Amino acid sequence: MPAAPAPEILAAFEKAKGFMPVDEGLALYAAAVEAGGLGLPLLEVGTYCGRSTVLLADAARATGVSALTVDHHRGSEEQQPGWDYHDPETVDPELGLMDTLPAFRRTLHRAGLEEHVVALVGRSPQIARIWASPLGLVFVDGGHTDEHATADYEGWAPHVAEGGLLVIHDVFPDPVDEFTGQAPYRVYLRALASGAFTEVSDTGSLRVLRRTGAGV
Ligand SMILES: C[S@@+](CC[C@H](N)C(=O)[O-])C[C@H]1O[C@@H](n2cnc3c(N)ncnc32)[C@H](O)[C@@H]1O
Repeated sequence: MPAAPAPEILAAFEKAKGFMPVDEGLALYAAAVEAGGLGLPLLEVGTYCGRSTVLLADAARATGVSALTVDHHRGSEEQQPGWDYHDPETVDPELGLMDTLPAFRRTLHRAGLEEHVVALVGRSPQIARIWASPLGLVFVDGGHTDEHATADYEGWAPHVAEGGLLVIHDVFPDPVDEFTGQAPYRVYLRALASGAFTEVSDTGSLRVLRRTGAGV
């Protein structure tokens, strides 16, 4: 049976602001617990308000590793004012800019998981350029333009260890279903075509791939 979060962890996930449905969250959690068994950190690109981070953090706690989460906390294109995914509560009233860091910190604190997470605040490609350690899992859920999704793949997928997992969110093969573009789908196809990754599971728009070869 795949690992499942305790009811209080699932409740914290459901309570947090964010977009991930429960079935995808459960698939992410199971992947994270499996990958944590490698003894390497679990890294997420796209923290937002910490909804998926709660699950990665609990999986990290259960397996004795750390969860790392990367975000500049200024929001993606589709989350800016005037767009469908904008939430006015995420705007810093003093600056008039999105800032999801306070909500993220509240989410983690309330879930009792702060000590299992290292938050990396900055631009994903800039952090990836200075990153040099292997990772048990990389979860790509950052910007959904081709520019951002490709940079996340090229920046972080090389660090997935042999046997480790690459998880991609918002993979929509049918353009009719797309809501922010098909860049994650193109990244998913590229990962499979590289020969370095093999698909393990699909749940909703979440794809779990395992590193079974070298390269990206
Ligand atoms: C779809 S949301 C993440 C949702 C989150 N994983 C959840 O389950 O609730 C995408 C996040 O990626 C961040 N983001 C977009 N482009 C980024 C970049 N180039 N570097 C860092 N963060 C980025 C945005 O600020 C936003 O918070």
